[in-house]
Amino acid sequence: MIQLSREIRFALLPTDADYPPSANNSWGGWPAIDLAVPRLALRAVITGIPDPVTGYVCNIKVLDQLLRTVVSDALIPSFGDQAVSGETIINSALAEVRKRWQLPDELIRIELSLSPYLGYAIDTENDKMIQITQQFEFSAAHRLHCDTLTAQENRATFGKCNNVQGHGHNYVLDVTVGTDALASGSAVNFHEFQNTVKSEIIDRLDHKHLNRDVDYFAQINPSVENIAIAIYNWLDGKFDGKLIAVKVFETPKTWAEYRGPNTAGER
Ligand code: NI
Repeated sequence: MIQLSREIRFALLPTDADYPPSANNSWGGWPAIDLAVPRLALRAVITGIPDPVTGYVCNIKVLDQLLRTVVSDALIPSFGDQAVSGETIINSALAEVRKRWQLPDELIRIELSLSPYLGYAIDTENDKMIQITQQFEFSAAHRLHCDTLTAQENRATFGKCNNVQGHGHNYVLDVTVGTDALASGSAVNFHEFQNTVKSEIIDRLDHKHLNRDVDYFAQINPSVENIAIAIYNWLDGKFDGKLIAVKVFETPKTWAEYRGPNTAGER
């Protein structure tokens, strides 16, 4: 299956703001907006069969215009003058996109960013659930080493990551929880969600040497894969909503994502 995504960026301007209508649909571009208002991003993810001539699943201009119309005709008139939750906006965006959908392709997912660190998504095949992803950070040291391997094997396998004194990373952690899309407001208590991640994960790992300070990693190699699995297990069952995914970035170029033990043999 091929997936195609298009993102538009928009500002929730007050309806009486003295800006040209096109300013509603642009930030980081032209026309510039100098008001302190929410800057949001709305994405549609679609699937279809690429046209044999053009190679297009769909002409991106058509999808772009549909999303812009949803913003200008529905979201800004509805929400430009009030503080609303991400759940409210993405529910409305999905309903309005569906109302206008005339493409032969299938809409499979819609996403909304309230900031670079807080995102909402709905998969259309499971549109009773909104997925909320919050980004967290922690810094930690670790050493990649296995006692069952010889010193030479450890060096050959882990290279400089086997350094005796360890080395550090600024880890980035994305936690995704699911909330009932039909609930009024959020079925996830957002402050409790963040406090739980802080008490269960950040306080446990931040500014620690994982091998030495965290019992779990005394015998388990703190690879980014094992860190993601551990964080998932520490968080699972701790929220009102469902824990969907844990993604840990060890560097901007290396990350691991764990969505739970749904494959035989997985922890
Ligand atoms: Ni490392």
